[in-house]
Amino acid sequence: MAGIDDGAKSDEESLILLQGLHAAGFRKCITTPHIYAGLYNNTPERISSGLQRLKSICTEHALPLEVEAAAEYFFDHHFFELISQQKVLTFGKQYVLFELPLNNRPAMLEDMVFKMCLNGYQPVLAHPERYPFFHDRKMVEYGKLKDRGLLFQLNLMSLTGHYTEPIRSAARDLVRHGMVEFAGTDIHREKHLPVIRKAMEDSYYIELLCSGKLLNNTLL
Ligand SMILES: [Fe+2]
Repeated sequence: MAGIDDGAKSDEESLILLQGLHAAGFRKCITTPHIYAGLYNNTPERISSGLQRLKSICTEHALPLEVEAAAEYFFDHHFFELISQQKVLTFGKQYVLFELPLNNRPAMLEDMVFKMCLNGYQPVLAHPERYPFFHDRKMVEYGKLKDRGLLFQLNLMSLTGHYTEPIRSAARDLVRHGMVEFAGTDIHREKHLPVIRKAMEDSYYIELLCSGKLLNNTLL
């Protein structure tokens, strides 16, 4: 969705990414632009109009790829208000994708997960492998979050070492422990397409596909 966050900068770039995903075997994409107050002030209306543009691009170029949109919410006060007002963009069965700051664990995480569930949402944590404060081979923190009903979406690029080695290691541990419900791409630029292809050849990706736990196919 061009020009509304740090993703594609133009419709041309959106097209390249959509074509690349289709060529890699994707049949449907759920794009999740950032909603981050003060940085990416996106609204459902803005995201909806971006989605219409993406759909038009697919039609114009006869690209048989279904496109849908939700959002990746930053864990802040603005997000908490939207939850209370039940104005959060969801995908699938009331799934809400959100991300945490990368450098510190919010004290209110468990409370907010509870609040999301109370409001009828199914919270999904974006890229759990990228938070160093959760890293632990014994998976204690991850296990606690799972017990609270939090679902995890892995960034596939993490499996390739695209970020850091500790992130790759955490991603592998999450797969090995059967803790991943969704796989996401984190594609922002054309240069990420080969990384996704590499991830799709990774043995942990194959293990993830075979785990029977992935819910991606329920979103088709
Ligand atoms: Fe993110």
